[in-house]
Amino acid sequence: MILITGANGHLGTQTIDLLLDKKPDAEIAGLVRSEEKGAELKQKGVEIRVGDYTDYSSIEKAVQGIETLLLISSSSLEGRIGQHKNVIEAAKKADVKQIFYTSIVQADKELSPLSPDHAETEKLIQESGIPYTIYRNTFYMEFLPLFLGNAMETGQWAFPSDGKAINLALRSEMGEALANGLKNSGKHKNSIYEITSGKAYTLDEIAGLLSESSGKEITYTDVPISEFEKTLQEIGLPEDQIAMSVMTAETFVNGALDFTFDDMEKLLGRKPTGLDTFIKNFVNP
Ligand SMILES: NC(=O)c1ccc[n+]([C@@H]2O[C@H](COP(=O)([O-])OP(=O)(O)OC[C@H]3O[C@@H](n4cnc5c(N)ncnc54)[C@H](OP(=O)(O)O)[C@@H]3O)[C@@H](O)[C@H]2O)c1
Repeated sequence: MILITGANGHLGTQTIDLLLDKKPDAEIAGLVRSEEKGAELKQKGVEIRVGDYTDYSSIEKAVQGIETLLLISSSSLEGRIGQHKNVIEAAKKADVKQIFYTSIVQADKELSPLSPDHAETEKLIQESGIPYTIYRNTFYMEFLPLFLGNAMETGQWAFPSDGKAINLALRSEMGEALANGLKNSGKHKNSIYEITSGKAYTLDEIAGLLSESSGKEITYTDVPISEFEKTLQEIGLPEDQIAMSVMTAETFVNGALDFTFDDMEKLLGRKPTGLDTFIKNFVNP
């Protein structure tokens, strides 16, 4: 049986749907934090296991009888390594045969403030001795509208990047790549995949694509992180959103997403959707 954690989240749900589609006889269990959160999955034939990464004994129960585990990284950043450690330790104890984990692109280079938690989790998985398959996911393309703020209305896009390019990939296709991996898990043992689309773009190039598709001039300005943070504070954005935006800005400025690999293409069996196509659809839905 395959256990998918974060099963009611965006990536978990997409992975489960695609796996059910590709391998209808797959035995799938989903880890959710309450029965209610698992109601929709249950209707699809997914076995519901209730557990919380922060509660070791709940995870210990949830991993019983599991052969393959997809650990979707926790969305709560506080104590994230400890949360993941609980899952890895419980998996080891339950004799899980393979762990898939969703990390960040080039995690070991630790270029993003988000990287250390992922690098440490990868290390814990490798040290556990359980065969592993790591999907080092870049940032979701679906998040581009969040990075843009009100740029499409004002024609002005101010965001820090220090001229670095960013490679974004569709979350829905990451789910597909995961489903393909889980479908033939044995073929992917002890592998690390860098999940990116086929091209990284500078923010200036992205503004160019937005202008071309919308017919409206979008001007990009590369601002320092301190200035960006001050602007967000002046707008009155909640603290946690400012913190997340600043982390994103640091990720861009450090060149943490300025990488392109063909692992996603190989896992999908076709070229991943590019940012140019995404922008055309986003601007003219
Ligand atoms: N690559 C990127 O651009 C990017 C962007 C954002 C996040 N991420 C990472 O990728 C992961 C998957 O993305 P997503 O879009 O599917 O996120 P999502 O929709 O927010 O789903 C996160 C899932 O994790 C579960 N979860 C959070 N804390 C948990 C805990 N303590 N115990 C058990 N389950 C817990 C959530 O359960 P509840 O519904 O109960 O909260 C939810 O099912 C995120 O969790 C985050 O680590 C990546």
